[in-house]
Amino acid sequence: SHLGLTGTKLGCAEGGCGACTVMLSKYQPHLSKVHHSVNGCLAPLCSLHHCAVTTVEGIGSVAGKLHPVQERIAKSHGSQCGFCTPGIVMSLYALLRNNPTPRMADIEEAFQGNLCRCTGYRPILEGYKTFTKERSCCGGKGMENGCCMTNRVETKGYTDEMLPAPLYNPADFLPLDPTQEIIFPPELMSLCKGQSSQQLRFRGERVLWLQPASLDQLLELKTQYPNAKMVVGNTEVGIEMKFKNLLYPVILAPGYIPELNTIQHTDEGIVFGASCSLTLLGDVLKAAVGKLPLYQTEVFNAVLEQLRWFAGLQIRNVAAIGGNIMTASPISDLNPVFMAAGCKLTLMSKGGERVVVMDEKFFPGYRKTILTPEEVLLCVLIPYTKKGQHFAAYKQSPRREDDISIVTSGMSVTFAEGSTVVKHLALSYGGMAATTVMAKNTASRLLGKQWGEELLQDACSSLAEEMTLHPSAPGGMVTYRRTLTLSLFYKFYLTVQQKLGAYIEGVRDDYISATEIYHQTSPSSVQIFQAVPDGQKEEDVVGRPMMHLSALKQATGEAVYCDDIPLYENELYLCLITSTKAHATIQSIDTAEAESMPGVVTCVFAKDIPGSNMTGPIVYDETVLADDTVTCVGHIIGAVVADTQAHAQRAAKAVRITYQELQPVIITIQDAITHQSFFQPVRTIQRGDLDQGFTQADHILEGEMHMGGQEHFYLETNVTVAVPKGEDGEMELFVSTQSATKTQSLVAKALGVPASRVVIRVKRMGGGFGGKESRSTTLSTVVAVAAQKLKRPVRCMLDRDEDMLVTGGRHPFYGRYKVGFMKSGKVVALEVTYYSNAGNSMDLSLSIMERALFHMENSYSIANIRGRGYVCKTHLPSNTAFRGFGGPQGMLIAESWMSDVALSLGLPAEQVRRLNMYIQGERTPYSQILDHITLDRCWDQCLEISSFTQRRAGIETYNRDHRWTKRGLSVVPTKFGISFTAAFLNQAGALAHIYTDGSVLLTHGGTEMGQGLNTKMVQVASRTLGIPSSKIHITETSTNTVPNTSPTAASASSDLNGAAVHNACEILLHRLEPYKTKNPKGCWEDWVSTCQSYTVLFLIGWTPDLGYDFETNTGRPFNYFSYGVACSEVEIDCLTGSHKNIHTSIVIDVGNSLNPALDIGQVEGGFMQGVGLYTLEELKYSPEGYLFTRGPGMYKIPAFGDIPTDLTVSLLRDAPNDKAIFSSKAIGEPPLFLAASVFFAIKDAIIAARKESGLSGPFRLDSPATPERIRNACEDRFTKLCPPAEPGTFTPWAVVV
Ligand SMILES: Cc1cc2nc3c(=O)[nH]c(=O)nc-3n(C[C@H](O)[C@H](O)[C@H](O)COP(=O)(O)OP(=O)(O)OC[C@H]3O[C@@H](n4cnc5c(N)ncnc54)[C@H](O)[C@@H]3O)c2cc1C
Ligand code: FES
Ligand code: FES
Repeated sequence: SHLGLTGTKLGCAEGGCGACTVMLSKYQPHLSKVHHSVNGCLAPLCSLHHCAVTTVEGIGSVAGKLHPVQERIAKSHGSQCGFCTPGIVMSLYALLRNNPTPRMADIEEAFQGNLCRCTGYRPILEGYKTFTKERSCCGGKGMENGCCMTNRVETKGYTDEMLPAPLYNPADFLPLDPTQEIIFPPELMSLCKGQSSQQLRFRGERVLWLQPASLDQLLELKTQYPNAKMVVGNTEVGIEMKFKNLLYPVILAPGYIPELNTIQHTDEGIVFGASCSLTLLGDVLKAAVGKLPLYQTEVFNAVLEQLRWFAGLQIRNVAAIGGNIMTASPISDLNPVFMAAGCKLTLMSKGGERVVVMDEKFFPGYRKTILTPEEVLLCVLIPYTKKGQHFAAYKQSPRREDDISIVTSGMSVTFAEGSTVVKHLALSYGGMAATTVMAKNTASRLLGKQWGEELLQDACSSLAEEMTLHPSAPGGMVTYRRTLTLSLFYKFYLTVQQKLGAYIEGVRDDYISATEIYHQTSPSSVQIFQAVPDGQKEEDVVGRPMMHLSALKQATGEAVYCDDIPLYENELYLCLITSTKAHATIQSIDTAEAESMPGVVTCVFAKDIPGSNMTGPIVYDETVLADDTVTCVGHIIGAVVADTQAHAQRAAKAVRITYQELQPVIITIQDAITHQSFFQPVRTIQRGDLDQGFTQADHILEGEMHMGGQEHFYLETNVTVAVPKGEDGEMELFVSTQSATKTQSLVAKALGVPASRVVIRVKRMGGGFGGKESRSTTLSTVVAVAAQKLKRPVRCMLDRDEDMLVTGGRHPFYGRYKVGFMKSGKVVALEVTYYSNAGNSMDLSLSIMERALFHMENSYSIANIRGRGYVCKTHLPSNTAFRGFGGPQGMLIAESWMSDVALSLGLPAEQVRRLNMYIQGERTPYSQILDHITLDRCWDQCLEISSFTQRRAGIETYNRDHRWTKRGLSVVPTKFGISFTAAFLNQAGALAHIYTDGSVLLTHGGTEMGQGLNTKMVQVASRTLGIPSSKIHITETSTNTVPNTSPTAASASSDLNGAAVHNACEILLHRLEPYKTKNPKGCWEDWVSTCQSYTVLFLIGWTPDLGYDFETNTGRPFNYFSYGVACSEVEIDCLTGSHKNIHTSIVIDVGNSLNPALDIGQVEGGFMQGVGLYTLEELKYSPEGYLFTRGPGMYKIPAFGDIPTDLTVSLLRDAPNDKAIFSSKAIGEPPLFLAASVFFAIKDAIIAARKESGLSGPFRLDSPATPERIRNACEDRFTKLCPPAEPGTFTPWAVVV
C-alpha cells in the first residue's frame, strides 16, 4: 500500500482464496529462471531478497495497454465484484509465462488456489479457454476443429435460432504475444550468482530473520539458536504466527542452501532435499514415472495423486517437502504415504548425520518429531516399489480441491513371489489420531493370508477395532472417519485384486468403479438468451450483453475498493475486542498491557459512545459495544486504536477480560426449543381447512429436516474508513455496505448528531450477498465512535477470521412437517413448522422467517395449509440477510416433503412435483393470485434441454452396472416473490446531472456489489435519454446525493432504481423538449448546452399497492414472481461420500433481460452459491458457541472444480414482465434455490445406493449433503461395523446449530 499498488487483494491472509496472488520470479542456479504464482499473504518480505515480484499492475492497465489475460476475463464477463479478479489474472499470467499454450487441465490446475464467490467460475474458464491448445481463437477464420464461435451450436445440438450471438466475441480479443512480456530482470541473475557465501540478516520489531548461505552456516546457527524456527514456504509457520498467536523471535531460512535443494537418483529411489518445493517434487516424480517401469513407480504415483489435491498451486509452488514432514500434522497428506512406503530421512546437526526410516516412532506426539533441537532434516529418500509390491494413497476431504483431509492414507502390500499371500503390509492413516498412525495390529493379523474375501472381512473387523476414535474427538465426524478407514482399505483391496487378475478371479465388473481414480472433465457450457428485436438501434444497449462497466478496471487492479483509499496523513487503525464467552457478565477489563504496547493510541468502550449505544436495523435490541453482558462469542466489547494494523491487532490480543459465566447457554435450535427462547411474534400463514384436508388424504406422512446456515464469504471483508471533518460534528465515512442510509442513521445515533452531519459513501463492494445489509453497520459505528473520540481518521478492514466470527450469516433452519396426500401424489394438506436460529438479536430475522413462510409451498398448489415460524433467540452472533432471505430454507424443506411423498408412493419425484405445480390463476397460501405464470414453460423446456428422459434411462443403466458409484437426477422448480416484504422499502431515488458538454452524471439509491447494478442503470438511462452509454457515468452511491434509500437487497434494486432513473431521465427529456423543437437538427450537446438551468433532477421510483397483513391474511406481499426450473445430475462415490456435479440445465424467467450477460452471471453465481449452501458449506460450532470455521482453510465454498461439467443456462424467451422496468424481472436471488436440484439428485443417488442394501422409503437427509452425510446414508457392510455412539452419552466436538 505504500507504493500505491492496491491491485493485489487480501481476502483471507491464510493462503486459501488466492486474491493476493502475485508472480514471483527468481533465478535459481540449478533451475535457471523460475516464474511462479505465490500467495502474497504468506510470502515473508525477507524471503523476497533477490526476487522480482510482479503484481497485477505490472502487466497492463486500462489507461495504458491491457494484457490479454486482463482483457479476456473482463470481456468474457468473468469479473463481477472484481475482488478475486486480480488474483485470478495473476494465476493465469504466471501459467502463461511458463507455458503460452496450455491445456485446459493446466488452467484448471492453475486455479486450484483461487476462489470467486460471485461468478460461478464458468465465464472465467470459458474466457480463458481461448488461450488453450484446445480452444485458441481463430478469429472467425476456422481451425482444424472448426471455429470456436460456432462450435458451441454444433456440439450441443441446438439450432441457430435458439442460440443467438454469443455473450462476447472471442475474435475481438487481443492476441497473446509472449515476446511482449516484461523480461526477467537481468540484474537478478548476476546478483544471485554472486550471493553464494553471503549470510543475510534482517532484524524487525520482534523477529530476527537469518538466511544462511551454506549447510555449515545453517548447522552452526541451529546450534547457536536451537529454538529457532526454520521457514521455507512459510505456509505453516505463517498460519501459526497470524492465527495461533505464536511468535518465533529467530527464524532460519534455508531456502537457498544447495544441499537442501538437490535431487539425486539412487538405486533405492529418488532423494529430495528438504527445501524442494512440492511443485518440483511433482515435476521430478512425473518425469520418473514417464521413464521407469510401472512396477517401480507405485509410490511415486501415490505421491503424485496426493499432490493433485494438495492445497492450491500457489502453495505447492513454495511449500517444501521438509515443511510438510516437519510440521508433523496429523492430517498431513504426504506423511501417511512416506510412512507406508518406509521413506528414509537424513537428519543432520553439527554433531553429525543419521538416517531414520519414517515409521510410527518418528512422530512421538501431536506435532512432534524425533529431531533434536539442533538437528535439521536434510533430505528424504522416496523408494521405488519392488516387484510384487502394490501401493496406493487416498485423501478424503470435504471439497476435492485445496482442502485439508478428513482421513488420508497410504497403503502398501507385498506378496510372496508368484502368489497372493501377504508377505508385508503397511497401512497408515492420517486424521485418526494426534499423529499419523500405522494400523500395526491389522497389518500383522493379515500376514500370511491370501488376498481374498476372508482377508477383507478380517481386515475390516480389525480396522474397526484398531482405528477407533472417542466420540468427542476433535474434528468431529467420528462415525464417518471410522467408516472411511474401512472404505479406503476396501478400495485398496479391490485395486490390488484387480492388479492380481492373473492369479485370482478379477474384480466384478460392477465393482470396478470403486478402484477408479477421480478424473476431472473440463466443463462445457451453453447460454441461451433472446437477442434484441430486429431493428433495435445499435446504440440502444438495453437487452444486449454489455460488459460490467468496471470489469476492465477490476482486471487491472485499478478499481478502487474501500481499503484502497490512500492513507490519510494522521490516520489510525482499529481492531475489535470481542467476547470469548457465549453468555456472561463482564467482571473486569484490563487494558494496561495493551495500552503500553508500541503504537497504541487509545481503547474504546461503551462509555466512549457520545450518543446511544443501542443499535439494530429494525428494533434497537443490541449494543454497539457490550455494556456489562455478552450474549455470544464474538460479541463486540471494545476496540484498540493504534498507528498500524499490526500494532492494533497485537494490542487487542493483550486486553484481559474476566467474565462471570451465565446460564443458560443456548446455542442450537433444539436448545432454544427446550428453553422456549423465541423472539416475538410467532408468524402463521394459513389457508383452507387443515383438518378436512388430512381427513380427505389417502396417506399422511410426518418428517423433519435441518438445514445449516451459510457464511457470506464476500471476498472483501467489512471495511470502514471514518474521517471527521472538524466542524459541526460532521463526519464522512467510506464504507463497504449495501445500506448507506441505515449506516448513516445508526452512526448518527451513536455519535449523537443529526443524520445530516454524516455522509456515507460507497464506491463499490467486493461482494455483499446480504451480509453487508445490516451487520456492516456495527463496525462502521465503532469506527466512527473512535474517529470522533480521537478527532482523527480511523480505518478498519476486518480480517477474515474476525469477519466470520462477528458478522453472522444465513439462518440455520429446522422444519417439522405433516403432509396429507392422495394415492396419485396430489398433496391436499400440509402443516409445517419452521424454527430459525436467529442468534442474539432480532436483526432482520422476523422478515426472513416471513419470507420462509411465504415460500413454504415453493411452487405447489396446496388447498389446505398452515405454516408457523418461530425465530429462536440463541447465544450465537446475530444471523442476518443472505441471498434468498429465508426463501432457500423454506423451499428446501418443501422439496423434502415433496420427495418423501414420492418415495413413500414409489412414484418418480418429477411426476409428483409436476402434478402439484401451480397453474395460472391459482392462489398462494397468502391469497395472492398467480398471473402470468411461466412455471410450466420453464419446466417443459428444462426437461427438453436436459434430455431428461434419456438421462433418466442412462442413469438406470449406469446404476445397474455400478455398485460403488451411483448417479442421481432431479428436477426442481422455484417461484420467488419479488419485493421487500416491508412495503415502505419498495422505493428508490435517482439523481441525474447533465453537464453542458453533454456528459451525464448519474446517481441512484442502489449500491454496486458486483451484480452490475450500475451497468444496468446506465443502460436504462442511455435508452431513456437516447444517448450512447459512454456519455453516462456513475461515480458512487452517497447519502448526500440520494437520501433515505432502501438497502440494495431483495433482488429489487434494478426494478426500483431502474424506475427512478427512468423517471428522472424522462422528466429531463421533457424539459429538453422545447430546445429540441427549437433546434430539430441539433444534437444532444447543442440542446443541453442551452438548457443549463434544468439539468439536475431528483425523483423517487417506487412500487405501489404492496403490503401484507398476517393477522387477516390479506394484501399483496409481492409485486410479481420470478420462476425457474433446474435439472441436475450427480454421481456419488458410495464409499467416500464424495460427489461430482455432472450436469445442470436451468431455465429461468427474467422477463425481457436488461442485460443477458449480467443476468446469466447472476444465475450461474447464485446457483453455485446454492451448490455451496446445499452440498458443501458447513459452519462448525462447539457446544459452547465457539465458531471453529473462521476462514477458507476450514470453511469451504465451491471452487472451480465444483461447477457442473455440463452446464446450460437458458433465459426464457418471450416472457415480458409488465411490472418492472423495460419488461425485465429481478434476478439476484431466485436462481440460488435451483441448486436444490443438486441436493435432490444426490438424494436420488443415495436412494439407489440404499436399494443395494435392501433399504427403501423416505429417509432423512439434512442439508448440506456433505460427504459425511452422503456416506453415512449409504448404509452397507462397512457402516455396520462403525455404529455411531449413543447420543447423550458424550459431548460432541461440534453441534448442529
Ligand atoms: C492454504 C493451505 C493449504 C494447505 N493444504 C495442505 C494439504 O492439502 N495437505 C497438507 O498436508 N498440508 C497442507 N497445508 C500445510 C502446508 O502447506 C504444508 O505442510 C507444507 O508442506 C509446509 O511447507 P512449508 O515449506 O511452507 O513449511 P514452513 O511453514 O516453512 O515450515 C513448516 C515447519 O517445518 C519446519 N521445517 C521446514 N524445513 C525444515 C528442515 N529442513 N528441517 C527441520 N525443520 C524444518 C519448520 O521449522 C516448521 O516448523 C496447507 C497449508 C495452507 C496454508
Ligand atoms: S489473501 Fe492470500 S490467499 Fe487469501
Ligand atoms: S467476482 Fe469473484 S469474488 Fe466477486
